[in-house]
Amino acid sequence: MSNVEKTKVAVVTGGASGIGRCVAEKLLAEGWQVWALDLSQERLARMAQELGAGGRLRTLPCDVADTANVQQAFASLRGETPGIDALVCSAGVVRAGPLAAHAPEDLDFMMAVNIKGTWLCVREALPALRHGASVEDPARVVFLGSVTGMMPKAGSGFYGATKSAVHALASVFAVELASSGITVNAVAPGSVDTPMREQVLAASNVSGYKTYGTSPMGRIARTDDVAGAVLYLLSDAARFVNGAILPVDGGSRAALT
Ligand SMILES: NC(=O)c1ccc[n+]([C@@H]2O[C@H](COP(=O)([O-])OP(=O)(O)OC[C@H]3O[C@@H](n4cnc5c(N)ncnc54)[C@H](O)[C@@H]3O)[C@@H](O)[C@H]2O)c1
Repeated sequence: MSNVEKTKVAVVTGGASGIGRCVAEKLLAEGWQVWALDLSQERLARMAQELGAGGRLRTLPCDVADTANVQQAFASLRGETPGIDALVCSAGVVRAGPLAAHAPEDLDFMMAVNIKGTWLCVREALPALRHGASVEDPARVVFLGSVTGMMPKAGSGFYGATKSAVHALASVFAVELASSGITVNAVAPGSVDTPMREQVLAASNVSGYKTYGTSPMGRIARTDDVAGAVLYLLSDAARFVNGAILPVDGGSRAALT
């Protein structure tokens, strides 16, 4: 028997920015092979240039809300690697504002990316996740939820509703996939310093609603605060953690309850 450890393979959606990119970088640093899927070809190209694609980093343009596109992406991925050890669904979008001021398209847009996109990626990744997975050494799925999916937040009603749905998907998938040797968990960040937060802040200036302040820890999260929790859920230490919704918010939620 060989003592050479197999290189682990992860797919990270929304992998070219913010939390997703930070997760990808940390996994690469730990020796994983990473497939970064993202809608933005420009961000993927920048990532490939900055981190050096072609070795353990592979970049793949993909719109997670587009069924054919996701099927194609996972089919081409399987052409190169029969099994994947982890899927991190970080692709997500936000349109902030008071509920009464939203256009129906805002809800359609967030539901398509945040809910359908998350579900679809798991569905299409399943054959590769099942490959080689066992209840003793499970493949991992981690969703990016949000504390706004755990408690209502003015100005983020629709967004929070989509994140509540993401948490529900995590719980149900966790049970339905457990016997296949696949665990499914979600991390639920508070405010994280990424391009998405800039978008929310810009919208809040227009709508006048108040966003969450800093956590009781006195600062907002950095991407690596959240990526650290994701990496824990992908680690051997978390092999029996399944169906958890883990707030990563520096205690903001606890301070409000
Ligand atoms: N930033 C925060 O404060 C915060 C808080 C809680 C939860 N989250 C969640 O964390 C995740 C990552 O957020 P972030 O802050 O890193 O955002 P980000 O905007 O920095 O990155 C999101 C990435 O997803 C990609 N993306 C968007 N739509 C896509 C699609 N249809 N298909 C494929 N890729 C798509 C974008 O191109 C971008 O690269 C999201 O699911 C978000 O809802 C973020």
